[in-house]
Amino acid sequence: MAQRTTVVVLAAGEGTRMKSALPKVLHCIAAKPMLAHVLVAARACGADRIALVVGPGREDVATMARQVIPGIGTYTQQERRGTAHAVLAAKEAFAKGENVLVVFGDTPLLRPECLRALRAALSEAAVAVLGFRTKNPKGYGRLLTENGRLVAIREENDATDAERAVNLCNAGVMALAGKHALSLLAAIDNRNKKQEFYLTDAVALAAERNLGAVVIEAPEEEVMGVNDRKQLSEAEAVLQKRLRDAAMEAGVTLVAPETVFLSADTKFGRDVVVEPNVVFGPGVSVGDKAVIHSFSHLAGASVGEGASIGPYARLRPGTKIGKGARVGNFVEVKEATMEDGAKANHLAYIGDGRVGEGANIGAGTIFCNYDGASKQRTDVGKGAFVGSNSALVAPVTIGDGAYIGSGSVITKDVPDNAMAVERSQQTIREGGATRYRELKTRGKGKEGK
Ligand code: UD1
Ligand code: MG
Repeated sequence: MAQRTTVVVLAAGEGTRMKSALPKVLHCIAAKPMLAHVLVAARACGADRIALVVGPGREDVATMARQVIPGIGTYTQQERRGTAHAVLAAKEAFAKGENVLVVFGDTPLLRPECLRALRAALSEAAVAVLGFRTKNPKGYGRLLTENGRLVAIREENDATDAERAVNLCNAGVMALAGKHALSLLAAIDNRNKKQEFYLTDAVALAAERNLGAVVIEAPEEEVMGVNDRKQLSEAEAVLQKRLRDAAMEAGVTLVAPETVFLSADTKFGRDVVVEPNVVFGPGVSVGDKAVIHSFSHLAGASVGEGASIGPYARLRPGTKIGKGARVGNFVEVKEATMEDGAKANHLAYIGDGRVGEGANIGAGTIFCNYDGASKQRTDVGKGAFVGSNSALVAPVTIGDGAYIGSGSVITKDVPDNAMAVERSQQTIREGGATRYRELKTRGKGKEGK
């Protein structure tokens, strides 16, 4: 049986370059916290156990992690004293001699394959490091080799000019063989510019002890670390490209892929068409053959087969759009269901309610769901017709097949197949317009006409 492996995920060091009240690892890419991406990769690599190291009082980070991996072991690093110090905070998790795989919470693009390759490399060395080559190595630890063997990792601050010129960098992921992990970690000191206990020093120690250290190379875009907002945006761009490519491979047409923004959990059926400039927030699923027209924004919504959304539609959380339903321009839907074939083609707010099968919501219709204190529901029955510019004041029910005259303010329930019109009687005064104009222009010269 293969040696058991514990993945230790480090999320205790805040750093200062994000300039944020939010812990770094909770910043999102593709609408999901960086740490959640890392935890998903850690689970997918087939490890036996995952341990998370957080800073003191960081219950927010631990809670988010438990949402991704219920039962994850969390450990607290009381003081930020370096990456090796942080790993030792979780010592209990691997103390029985398990292999250790250290992963940083700020490396969100990591793929499980990289982690598996690193684990496998422990068959030939006590320490295996994930490395990458980059044109811009600034800020990363440099991997120093002698005759093809990895001998040390030098942090930017401690490097000589010659070492800084090395472009093979440390991705931050390290595997330590169970037999040597604890003794290597315990031997690391803090004699460096930052006076931190650097995990990276495990390499020089392993080399000195002739235990062997190897580097496994990965593409830069799989391993970049995020220390500031600029890198956050760079990681976002890489992940967006991955998500767009995966959507297209799965049978989605993205007319201008670089203008469509996806979430890590966006789900598409086949033959969906997404026009340019659409944003998918978290929790969206789109059924087969649906079309999402330009400039629409969707979050927490499901779109049924063959439905048409936008242009300029906004679907907010709790929205369910049925098969073949149509949500047109400047229509906002929130916490509401539009059943199969229902239509709201122009300028409407549909919040907290239901639009029955095949019902039509006219232009300018508003579901008045909020009375200043609480939210109430509006229910529009199957096949009902709501005339333009109507206000449906919730709570209110419009029966199946009912008709609402344009411009009505509906405050009472309307029975099935009834017609409700709520507006004052129209009056006609023959010639009234002519008389009015004369009245208004009397005594004025030509230019006043
Ligand atoms: C680290 C590596 C560097 C590598 C780079 C890759 C070390 C000493 N340096 O530098 O070689 O090229 O990542 O992105 O390992 N953390 C703790 N406790 C601490 C310090 C850090 O939990 O006391 C955590 C942070 O939350 C973060 C990770 O460890 O998730 C890395 O820390 P960070 O400060 O970002 O290190 P880098 O300077 O990026
Ligand atoms: Mg970092």
